Amino acid sequence: MSDEGLSNLLHEERTFAPSEEFVAQANGTAELFEQAEADREGFWAQKAREYLDWETDFDQVLDWSERPFAKWFLGGRLNACVNAVDRHVEAGHGDRVAIHWVGEPEDDTRDITYAELHEQVQRAANALTDLGVREGDAVMIYLPMVPEAAVAMLACARIGAPHSVVFGGFSSDALRSRIADAGSKVVITADGGYRRGKPSGLKSVVDGALEGGENPVENVLVVRRTEQDVEWTEGRDTWWHEALEAADATHEAQAFDAEHPLFILYTSGTTGKPKGIFHATGGYLLQTAYTSHVVHDIHPESDVYWCTADIGWVTGHSYIVYGPMTLGATQVMYEGTPDTPHQGRFWEIVQDKKVTILYTAPTAIRTFMKWGKEIPEKFDLSSLKLLGSVGEPINPEAWMWYREVIGGGRCPIVDTWWQTETGAIMISPIPGVTETRPGSAQHPIPGINAVVVDDMGQPVEKGSGGYLVVTDPWPSMLRGIWGDPERYQETYWSRFEDMYFAGDGAKLDEDGNIWVLGRVDDVMNVSGHRMSTAEIESALVSHPKVAEAAVVGAADETTGQAICAFVILREEAVEQADEEGEGQDLVAELRQHVAKEIGAIAKPRQIMIVAELPKTRSGKIMRRLLKDVAENREVGDVTTLADSSVMDLITQGMKEG
Ligand code: WT7
Repeated sequence: MSDEGLSNLLHEERTFAPSEEFVAQANGTAELFEQAEADREGFWAQKAREYLDWETDFDQVLDWSERPFAKWFLGGRLNACVNAVDRHVEAGHGDRVAIHWVGEPEDDTRDITYAELHEQVQRAANALTDLGVREGDAVMIYLPMVPEAAVAMLACARIGAPHSVVFGGFSSDALRSRIADAGSKVVITADGGYRRGKPSGLKSVVDGALEGGENPVENVLVVRRTEQDVEWTEGRDTWWHEALEAADATHEAQAFDAEHPLFILYTSGTTGKPKGIFHATGGYLLQTAYTSHVVHDIHPESDVYWCTADIGWVTGHSYIVYGPMTLGATQVMYEGTPDTPHQGRFWEIVQDKKVTILYTAPTAIRTFMKWGKEIPEKFDLSSLKLLGSVGEPINPEAWMWYREVIGGGRCPIVDTWWQTETGAIMISPIPGVTETRPGSAQHPIPGINAVVVDDMGQPVEKGSGGYLVVTDPWPSMLRGIWGDPERYQETYWSRFEDMYFAGDGAKLDEDGNIWVLGRVDDVMNVSGHRMSTAEIESALVSHPKVAEAAVVGAADETTGQAICAFVILREEAVEQADEEGEGQDLVAELRQHVAKEIGAIAKPRQIMIVAELPKTRSGKIMRRLLKDVAENREVGDVTTLADSSVMDLITQGMKEG
């Protein structure tokens, strides 16, 4: 965001109080703040017993003696799957729909009740056990948005096998390194998935990941979705439906320690190597359930909730699977994209399923704005009562459009800040309590302590900016980086003493509201997805024609940021390109190469072939200057460059190119 845009933001003074009608039914109350303030650990202990069923009660709330490694609910034992499924059936809600599944092809829908889900997770737990999966074994899941994705995750949780879900947009190479890092013996995938009307392959990507070289995988379970042809490796590959049919229909779940790892989820950091963030069972389940209740205001008996994220990202983990299901909610799960087969698809689904709570991303909202309000206006959206936003800052203009066009001016909006690492929502209005302000995530939720600090780690004054930090451990905090405790300490706990550094810049407005401004490190946010500049640079440099590469995130109206790459070719490649005039082909080839190395989601929007990169005398690439070019701005101060003419060359080349 430009500095001008930023100062406009902070002059945003509109506020919206919740309606009396909303307040009357809201789960969240002002007392929560008081209770948490008075006794934070006592607050979480009480919530842990309110929201979860424990097979063995815990005897200590928090152990912070080995900071920054926290332990919550010590001595407690529970089963996450039992909390998310079994107990709702036992309480007589077996007939309640857990998932209204909507496939991308129209009329391809399935409703799954909690009783049906219960049978599925038991069979899947037995099938996994039959394949030799035991407590502590990591299982890789690479699936499209089908109910089996939730079943697979819950079945893993049921047997204490941490799952490692990889988003369907990642490549064979990305899968291979994640399989190796987690040591997964079993992969659960599908033949394919639907995307924009066409079936795309998933099994083939897994096959690619397992080709050549050693890997720990012994079994691949394959969900049948598109019925496309797939290659089959006898002895390794099994159809999911056949394995489930063959398995016992009942499975007695065993309880695990509250600190037992529930899952690993890889996310990009500032280096080229993705981090395996891992979460523990008790604290994670508690905070996802609690926030689903007080932030999303889910009333399981009456609401129809819809989170549009993919299960492959943390939002899908926390706010499709664990949070809402632990409450026993009814939700919509949609397989496809918002424009298939038409640009009103989301609103048609809201109308048909009578969705009451919608949780989506600013990038989607800005896309809908671009398509025009005439499209949602064709549908009946009166069932909606609450709207949520996540993934990146939401500009006040998009917030207001969301409120008026989608929410009919009646629904509170919760702008929720959190991360893969935080596991659950940390900063957000509490609907029914907080007067909302367009564009600001506002304040930490009850039980969470977070502030904006300056360079020295001191809290900033109102009206000033700094860094967002969390000052106390929280139940759903990451327990570490899989296999790399030093990196955990170094990345999050070394910038400021005794505080969790989130990597985001933030500002405090005159009223004390927090405005999260975005990453202050070399991490980009593209459509709410985290991408590392270093990872894309190393993918580019691995191409034989590339000598050097620098990647920046440039502001983009729809996606927040877009990936822009500056590439220096090897000499042979330059000559060849000149002779054959194949510059364009080469750009296409490089984009394809990034897709192969990381995945289609990491393809740069723009690749510029340049003769030099701007560097300081010590050889550090000055990304700030490249960002100026990518955002079509006057190039900033170049005095620290080793060779100040480099930027002239680049901008010159841009004008000609
Ligand atoms: C990064 C975390 C949380 C699930 C989706 C992304 C940015 C997230 C907001 C928000 C401003 C936000 C931050 C954060 N972010 N939500 N409401 N306002 N920025 O999870 O991939 O772990 O990315 O997303 O920069 O650090 P993630």
